[in-house]
Amino acid sequence: GITRHYHFDIKYQNVSRLWHTKRMVTVNGMYPGPSIIAREGDRVLIKVVNHVQENISIHWHGIRQLGSGWADGPAYVTQCPIQKGQSYVYNYTIVGQRGTLLWHAHISWLRATLYGPIIILPKHGLPYPFTKPHKEVPIIFGEWWNADPEDVITQALQTGGGPNVSDAYTINGLPGPLYNGSAKDTFKLKVKGGKTYLLRLINAAMNDELFFSIANHTLTVVEADAIYVKPFETETILIAPGQTTNVLLKTKSEYPKATFLMSARPYATGQGTFDNSTVAGILEYEVPPHSLHSTTSIKKLPLLKPILPALNDTSFATKFSNKLRSLGSPQFPANVPLKVDKHFFFTIGLGTSPCQQNQTCQGPNGTKFAASVNNESFTLPTTALLQAHYFGKSNGVYSPNFPISPLIPFNYTGTPPNNTMVSNGTKVVVVPFNTSVELVMQDTSILGAESHPVHLHGFNFFVVGQGFGNFDPNKDPLNFNLVDPIERNTVGVPSGGWVAIRFLADNPGVWLMHCHLEIHTSWGLKMAWIVLDGNLPNQKLLPPPTDLPKC
Ligand code: C2O
Repeated sequence: GITRHYHFDIKYQNVSRLWHTKRMVTVNGMYPGPSIIAREGDRVLIKVVNHVQENISIHWHGIRQLGSGWADGPAYVTQCPIQKGQSYVYNYTIVGQRGTLLWHAHISWLRATLYGPIIILPKHGLPYPFTKPHKEVPIIFGEWWNADPEDVITQALQTGGGPNVSDAYTINGLPGPLYNGSAKDTFKLKVKGGKTYLLRLINAAMNDELFFSIANHTLTVVEADAIYVKPFETETILIAPGQTTNVLLKTKSEYPKATFLMSARPYATGQGTFDNSTVAGILEYEVPPHSLHSTTSIKKLPLLKPILPALNDTSFATKFSNKLRSLGSPQFPANVPLKVDKHFFFTIGLGTSPCQQNQTCQGPNGTKFAASVNNESFTLPTTALLQAHYFGKSNGVYSPNFPISPLIPFNYTGTPPNNTMVSNGTKVVVVPFNTSVELVMQDTSILGAESHPVHLHGFNFFVVGQGFGNFDPNKDPLNFNLVDPIERNTVGVPSGGWVAIRFLADNPGVWLMHCHLEIHTSWGLKMAWIVLDGNLPNQKLLPPPTDLPKC
């Protein structure tokens, strides 16, 4: 591979949407930010220079960071933030991945405006295992607040209540024509008839899983989280924050000058809390140059809108996730760990914690919202975990006693779980190098009831099983798919259900795992894994780069 250099100037830029202009934090003045484009095997160097007041750090979501744990990016986990006037060079090599990922800020709620695509092309001369597209188009979903998202989260945490929902969903930063007065801010994709387009779909929204579809067109899913999948056709895609999905769009030759809406809106298994507004873009067919008709004589079809599943269509969600399978070809095998060294069972819960005295909390019944893994709400330290680990200075920074056992098994037929008395702390799980891990995540939310897209930094994992109700350790593993399970970095733990994943802990470092619904992360739905060094020289975490920011 070659080395590619990028320069990210973090600076303020005024941006207007929905008749509001606001000063936002951007990369190079762009919203959304620029694409990182590289080939598998390339080294990427991104120099991030901070020109704003806010502390910054950038995460390369889904990049495995094999041997480059210092470049992963979550603030206070692998690095201290980049302060005003400082810079840091993220330096990593892309190994064993090809497809679409995303980068985003990983501190507070700054990822609301700091995000962009990562496009990994196959190695030189290696074709895609599907039709060569005529064109490739990144489509990145986001959320727009008329207010400053930093104020939104600050207020939510101060009051203990839920955050204000965003004012619009966006496609490539644009809300589209279904929002009042927003028609001029519409993403438009111009296509030729009879061609294949590769749409690189990325969900960078803060708090919502999204359905996406294009009127009158079928999509063929070919890739998810930078791993090829067995192709399948669908009218609608379900995509969680942090997930990426590549689809082929075949345009039809019988549509000159026609336009179709493409749109996305939230999937929520709970009721009530989501607004159901819809972001739309336009797919516009060009008139073929050799057209027999003059442009004006072609009858324009009415603009067609896609039909999206209902807001609470869990049966669609389940069917869709069951269709996702690794390609599992000789060239791209699914290397599922067949033996397991260590089994873990984590409860994933959204609940409440008591309000402090002389505070009035706006959460349910005067409490405040809290979220937890194994009833432990994770607190970020004030220095970086990876530095503390590398220099053997964990004292006062983290403790290796993440609660694992004994666990009170969750019982959906009995009393609700004890999600109301979570403890707070910075507790991690430590595993030796090359441990083969199986992790079952059981949703125990007593509130909200949307599914939790859990993201693991530094690894891809295989989703070997999932179901509803209580996980049964005796029966459910008998049905695990160890042949062609989907391999990814973010998986939805269904509301009232569970997911089982497997991964090989072959990457020394400190790796955050969290719900990618940003508000749940803020409420503490996160934890960290420490993977120890192996014995061989190439199995060890390298010393930190000299420009690593200090706290
Ligand atoms: Cu895309 Cu820790 O996040």
